[in-house]
Amino acid sequence: MHIERATLSQGEARRLTDDIKAQAERLCFMLLEAYEGGAHLALGYSSWGAYFEEEFGGGSRAYQLLDSGRVVRAVEGHSTIVERSRPNEAQARELAPLLRRDEKEMLEVWAELRVEYGDTITANRVRNLVGRRLDRIRREEDARLRADTQPPTQRMTVGGADIRHCDFRSLDLPDGSADLIFTDPPYGAAHLDLWRDLGEFAASALKPGGVLVAFSGQRHLPEVLDALRGHLDYLWMAAVGHRRGSRDLWSPRVQNRWKPMVVFARGRPESREPLMDGFWLGDRDGKEHHVWGQAEIEAERIIETFTDPGGLVVDPFLGGGTTALACLRSGRRFLGCDVDGAAIGATLGRLELQKNEAV
Ligand SMILES: C[S@@+](CC[C@H](N)C(=O)[O-])C[C@H]1O[C@@H](n2cnc3c(N)ncnc32)[C@H](O)[C@@H]1O
Repeated sequence: MHIERATLSQGEARRLTDDIKAQAERLCFMLLEAYEGGAHLALGYSSWGAYFEEEFGGGSRAYQLLDSGRVVRAVEGHSTIVERSRPNEAQARELAPLLRRDEKEMLEVWAELRVEYGDTITANRVRNLVGRRLDRIRREEDARLRADTQPPTQRMTVGGADIRHCDFRSLDLPDGSADLIFTDPPYGAAHLDLWRDLGEFAASALKPGGVLVAFSGQRHLPEVLDALRGHLDYLWMAAVGHRRGSRDLWSPRVQNRWKPMVVFARGRPESREPLMDGFWLGDRDGKEHHVWGQAEIEAERIIETFTDPGGLVVDPFLGGGTTALACLRSGRRFLGCDVDGAAIGATLGRLELQKNEAV
């Protein structure tokens, strides 16, 4: 049905809307009562979900109402909330994700909204503030986790390569000391913060004119470029073709046959020979040493293109140690780290093998 004009007056529409909202609030409390009283068990359902599905034809709205009821009850039970005002059902629905994480934060957000907007709080305003608060909670949790799980830095040297078991953000590298950072950070939305930190790290660790070359997935390439551009100058994007196509992990409808390799610099890089090739066909895939391992041949080509023998190459996401190995072979100094002890073990094993072969 397509409605062309209002048959209700403004007053009637307002009254009706307020009645609907009041009914929704009543529903919240009734659902809460049914839930806490075990209505599903009393009626012979195996689970609360089955009860919702059968009695209300789909559970998601019923769960939303239940969540809203919990929010309203939490606000009512808290005496310091401004004027003890309670959210309506739509506002309570937006507050519910915060209640699931932390009741105190939810009550604070509601009190803040009341102070700032009084009676003009819209569901959208609640959603925005709740979203920002959830982001902050997640960032704080991540930082706590990192601080708790960070092992003390262990430092090892094989054949001159300096290998450290640590987070790259705690590497004590003198400013302006690296000729090249060549690396392969983890891909995926959850790791985008690492790219921002990598950009910052590279902007101080690289010599003026030094270059960062990093493999990236396609899925979050725009965010990756933005994160690095905040600290370095964009130079180029090269492509490394795969001999075998592979399913893209984050975009399963693509049979992926290449990966981007982004090239950034700290200031203007020296112009030098040999020139970098903009398209390569990958050789061996290196997965026998680390589940994400890249081909050694790619690493050697990059290192020889961007550094002279004796130059310092850094890989802050070492994985199975492909960059370290390529540096040993091509006579460059190397420093790399990884947070994963198993990756450090694999790297040390490969370097020892390479050192013995070279003797
Ligand atoms: C894609 S893998 C690198 C694979 C490597 N190119 C190779 O050929 O074996 C990414 C690595 O980064 C490491 N990593 C993730 N976060 C890190 C951090 N904050 N600091 C150092 N290493 C980190 C992971 O443990 C993983 O081994």
